[in-house]
Amino acid sequence: MRPLGAVALLLVAAAAAPRAVSGQHYGSISRDDFPVDFSFGASTSAYQWEGAAAEDGRTPSVWDTFAHAHAGSGSWWKSKEMDCAYGLCLDAYKFCNTGDDSVNGDVAADGYHKYKEDIKLMKETGLDAYRFSISWSRLIPNGRGEINPKGVEYYNNLINELLDHGIQPHTTIFQYDLPQILEDEYGGWLSPQIIDDFTAYADVCFREFGDRVTNWTTLNEPNALVSLGYDAGIGPPGRCSKPFGFANCSSGDSVNEPYIVAHNCLLAHSSAVSLYRRKYQVISFR
Ligand SMILES: *[C@@H]1O[C@H](CO)[C@@H](O)[C@H](O)[C@H]1NC(C)=O
Ligand SMILES: *[C@@H]1O[C@H](CO)[C@@H](O)[C@H](O)[C@H]1NC(C)=O
Repeated sequence: MRPLGAVALLLVAAAAAPRAVSGQHYGSISRDDFPVDFSFGASTSAYQWEGAAAEDGRTPSVWDTFAHAHAGSGSWWKSKEMDCAYGLCLDAYKFCNTGDDSVNGDVAADGYHKYKEDIKLMKETGLDAYRFSISWSRLIPNGRGEINPKGVEYYNNLINELLDHGIQPHTTIFQYDLPQILEDEYGGWLSPQIIDDFTAYADVCFREFGDRVTNWTTLNEPNALVSLGYDAGIGPPGRCSKPFGFANCSSGDSVNEPYIVAHNCLLAHSSAVSLYRRKYQVISFR
């Protein structure tokens, strides 16, 4: 019987921890201190891991636009306020502290090309599970409508490679990388239109990959999207208003927009979960 899938909305990113061999102690903690069905894993997000930003039909996400727009404005990123605002350094982007203000996700960890090597390392580390996110604009370059076969192929290869190594794929549908085209078209998460588009995108993910992926996360850290993008203004789409915000935003409304976006995130999550329960979870292959 095919295991019933689970769909969750993740507020805090899962921690990565290497697996201690049963009985072997690391400090005072051993694997035996965890429930037998506890999964040790690692996780990444598409923009921080994949690279290949303009390859095989992928279009820019709001993070591509934002990272490129801030290239050269290192002093802003290195400002006192930015220095780990919220204790968060966006370290994969190396915007803070490194002094390198030209860093973006164009290449990132090059997971798009190096996933086989990475999965080999995961296997050697002893991971039970790996959580990755799907790049919406790689799978559906226009945000809605036509599916990119190269995108489907890539995620199929990734999932199959994980399974071949006995590593359980955990898949995040959205991790802050909205297709720029939807941001331009109707303001992205500020518009209730996002609910239908997100649901249709999730439907494609469930349909294409749900025969092998049974652990789904709808939205990773919507709190980060809301607070960085619409309150502080230091993440895309960089909206904020005085006296709030750490950035000099050209537009935004820090008093109201964070709540509108959070509301739409919750509705999009609930819509995708309903769809899953209705269309996918009820089906069990015996
Ligand atoms: C989810 O992942 C865990 C651990 O990797 C696995 O045991 C389980 O079968 C998966 N599916 C569900 C629905 O939990
Ligand atoms: C915002 O603009 C003001 C006035 O130009 C400037 O003094 C300040 O440093 C800027 N702040 C940031 C975070 O860029």
